[in-house]
Amino acid sequence: MQLRKLSAGFGAESEAFGAPFQEVWDAFFAAQVLVMRGLRLTARQFLEFACRFGRPEPHVIDQFHHPEHADILILSNRNTNGEPAGLADAGTYFHTDYSYLEVPARCTMLYSIEVPRKGGDTLFADQYAAYDDLPASMKRRIENLAALHHYGNRDDLDRSSRTVASVLTEDQEEKLAWVKHPLVRSHPVTGRKALYAVSGSSFGIEGMAENEALGLLDELKRHATQDKYQLRLKYGVGDLVIWDNASLLHSATLTAPEDPRTLWRITVKEESKK
Ligand code: SIN
Repeated sequence: MQLRKLSAGFGAESEAFGAPFQEVWDAFFAAQVLVMRGLRLTARQFLEFACRFGRPEPHVIDQFHHPEHADILILSNRNTNGEPAGLADAGTYFHTDYSYLEVPARCTMLYSIEVPRKGGDTLFADQYAAYDDLPASMKRRIENLAALHHYGNRDDLDRSSRTVASVLTEDQEEKLAWVKHPLVRSHPVTGRKALYAVSGSSFGIEGMAENEALGLLDELKRHATQDKYQLRLKYGVGDLVIWDNASLLHSATLTAPEDPRTLWRITVKEESKK
């Protein structure tokens, strides 16, 4: 399987779709972001491919599930007769998917249906490199800490703001609870250490006063989202991207509502600990 690097650090592009799955799996976890360009997939083909990676989990925002396959979430800024065609914004702030669940996401896949004239890129930040570069004193300080997570964007809780996490209905909120994850996680597949979800759903640190915890999380977020750890991915129609949620943060970018952008998204969970 031929791979073309997307940056000096991480990310690769390949014609991997029809390749033997073990090669795709290995290439994906080595690259962290794997892109396959210009495919023509039905929703079922997209779902079947995703299921090779593990069990998909339908998104809590159920009003935008694909009508035939609830495992697919429709991302779209289109409006038809005043009705949104999909979730317009899946997070224009750095986060990692399903870190607010006890069993978080292994990988997320987007399949691009419609690309805006301007913008609509996804940003990724490498959390292996961010961890590796920390001073030894900081590594010792955070090694055994657990962060407290809940659905949301710690930096913006204003429900009317553009960068708040997508607002949930009361029923959807009731499905979610506080969970804990190590601040430094050994990757469940590669075993490499990475900073985990220091931005987005992390609202505190177990056993630490709130001010101190937020100060530490903010310091780690500033470090972990520096430009030098980032990759910007541009889409064409038919592109399929898979990203590794355990070793990356990602952020959508803002697009103009009159410039249509539509993608299908599937999120596959890690193996359950039980
Ligand atoms: C996501 O965060 O799942 C979506 C990213 C994007 O829309 O670019």
